[in-house]
Amino acid sequence: MPSSLADLDRELLIHPVTEFRVHEKKGPRVVKGAQGIRLEMQDGHSVIDGFSGLFNINVGHGRQEITDAVTAQMQTLAYYPAFWDFSTEPAIRLAERLRELLPPDSDFARFLFTTGGSDANETNIRLARLYHAVRGQPERQKILSRRSGYHGITRAAGSATGLPVYHVFAPPDPLHVTAAAPYCFRCEFDATLPECGIACAQDMEAVIQAEGPESVAAVIAEPVLGTGGIILPPPGYFERLQEICTAHGILLILDEVITGFGRTGSWWGMQQWDIRPDLLSFAKGITSGYLPLGGVAIGRHVYETIRDESPPGLPFMGGLTYNNHPTSCAAALANLEILESEGLVERARVVGAELLAGLRDALGTHPLVAEIRGVGMLIAIECGAPGTKRPAGGRPMAFPAAVAKRCWEHGLIVRALWENVALAPPLCTRSEEAREIVEILLRSFEEAAVDLATD
Ligand SMILES: Cc1ncc(COP(=O)(O)O)c(C=O)c1O
Repeated sequence: MPSSLADLDRELLIHPVTEFRVHEKKGPRVVKGAQGIRLEMQDGHSVIDGFSGLFNINVGHGRQEITDAVTAQMQTLAYYPAFWDFSTEPAIRLAERLRELLPPDSDFARFLFTTGGSDANETNIRLARLYHAVRGQPERQKILSRRSGYHGITRAAGSATGLPVYHVFAPPDPLHVTAAAPYCFRCEFDATLPECGIACAQDMEAVIQAEGPESVAAVIAEPVLGTGGIILPPPGYFERLQEICTAHGILLILDEVITGFGRTGSWWGMQQWDIRPDLLSFAKGITSGYLPLGGVAIGRHVYETIRDESPPGLPFMGGLTYNNHPTSCAAALANLEILESEGLVERARVVGAELLAGLRDALGTHPLVAEIRGVGMLIAIECGAPGTKRPAGGRPMAFPAAVAKRCWEHGLIVRALWENVALAPPLCTRSEEAREIVEILLRSFEEAAVDLATD
């Protein structure tokens, strides 16, 4: 008898963020197709993609325009490297488009496209160190990030990731140091705003002093800590962080891999909190996942310094085979066209606010819900034992995982992120679909609470 797809998967594949022994037993959930915000599974189950894949399918599934653009580009020129002086029209046009889409008061001079978010951050970290080196400060090598931050899994980006589970058996590179996250609900200092004076931002100053400001190249930060639990910065946090960076000549790398391209209800997270990064990383929503693509935008002063101060004859030695991939860039252009022509950034703002309000109405007083927070299509329901910050039911992550399981049964994908139930639906989600999401979540919370009590 021929093996089923699920059996073959168990036999042949490994999956990220999966325990091998558990996967071999349980097998995969095979996705067969998708349209709009819904996935069709191999076994006929239909579910709402309430997490947009991995925060990335911003325009939703099944967009013919992107397929057409990709087909046309492949028929003309599927791929050619961007090394040396070779270039292609889609990469040039995409850079032109991004220049228009970036905030008018920002000043990014150049772009380079990567294959995803990790290598975008890797590139920016390389650029930050290079910037200091050509200015005569090669000792500025350290990269500071925040606990709960996620920047990818490659060497430097992975070392900047501040979630301990990523470093079991492989400690981060010693040139990386973390400071506190702006996580008010779980404040490391047990302090409250405004009396705390934004202690988490002050902690970055303390870390800089402890490490020696002249040894630090850059601070890397997400506008909203995504994988860490959809953690929103308190008012004034980024202003203070920027002041600290500027005072010490440290570059700010803003990781907008999740928050870019409308996720927060504005084109960029930097617009929500008025952040002026020196270097910008993006990925995910730039193609809505139709093809792999990420990239960096380089602030003018950084670009010009490297251009003018590099030793003659020394080229920029950052290079990925698939930098500026023309077909991925063509997918991005078609995707950006949809985001813009259908007003999906505005829709994310409006429907995201409705979803947040609906969740607060439905679950705001649930005994196992401690806080519901979000911006645009990026929402977390922070869970906990009643009146405490301890895990509901006493076991870490058990309750959010039980909610996610119940949601799945009722036709909705959400993600258990630590003690949070996290949501990031596609930006094309309509109001009635948002209400359906709230109904499924309400039912799932009720059932998961019973599951937990009877477990
Ligand atoms: C904020 C952030 N940065 C970087 C990355 C890494 O991106 P990739 O998985 O495309 O390498 C992610 C991935 O989730 C992310 O959320």
